[in-house]
Amino acid sequence: MAGLAVNIDHIATIREARKASYPDPIAAALRAEMAGADGIVAHLREDRRHVNDRDVRLLREVIQTRFILEMAATDEMLAIALEVMPELVTLVPEKREEVTTEGGLDLVANREHIEKAVTRLQDGGIPVSIFIDADLDQIRMAREVGADFVEIHTGAFCDAETDDERQVEMERIKAAAKLAHELELGVNAGHGINYDSVKAFKEVPEIDEYSIGHSIVARAAMVGMDQAVRDMAQLVKELHP
Ligand code: PXP
Repeated sequence: MAGLAVNIDHIATIREARKASYPDPIAAALRAEMAGADGIVAHLREDRRHVNDRDVRLLREVIQTRFILEMAATDEMLAIALEVMPELVTLVPEKREEVTTEGGLDLVANREHIEKAVTRLQDGGIPVSIFIDADLDQIRMAREVGADFVEIHTGAFCDAETDDERQVEMERIKAAAKLAHELELGVNAGHGINYDSVKAFKEVPEIDEYSIGHSIVARAAMVGMDQAVRDMAQLVKELHP
């Protein structure tokens, strides 16, 4: 059975749009858990554009399920992770100018740097996932650098504009998930997944957990966080019963 980790970054995005004190991502995380989330994800960015240091520390204190911290492999973030001790760190690439995380980490190009970060986190007792494109070389490299999990970037599939493109991207995801599973890596998946596109992942039984943010927060603006999380949790449950 696959799990659902709910990313609450965009609750903080709404707060930061007015530099207000609400809505509070902490309250959203607690509601998401009560509605069936198996974990809560937050991406602490270098520019703190949504979630900030206070949020991360409070999330650590209050979350009853699992706290997954997404971050770049910088010295600053490694120090924060080792102090906060989330249940999982997902290493992501980060560019200041991007609207959202644009691609997976290129492990072939950054092997030494990422390997050191993985070792530091694991030595501190934190399992590590690496966000990578659905590429077999990247999956093999994730194994080589000692990752515990990969998170397969689903953006290219979710954003595909034609059926042919979607088919090609789904085949890549299926092959990547299969290889990761064979290499005994845990398999997470995320980016761009919504209430419609999630259904296609029935074809990928290796997925352990989905990491979903924007579509859930967008629906929450209309129907409330409880209903939005419950709807997605139900869809995930139906995919891999
Ligand atoms: N996984 C990773 C590594 C991400 O960077 C993001 C976006 O913050 C997500 C999952 C969630 O993507 P979305 O908000 O499109 O559901």
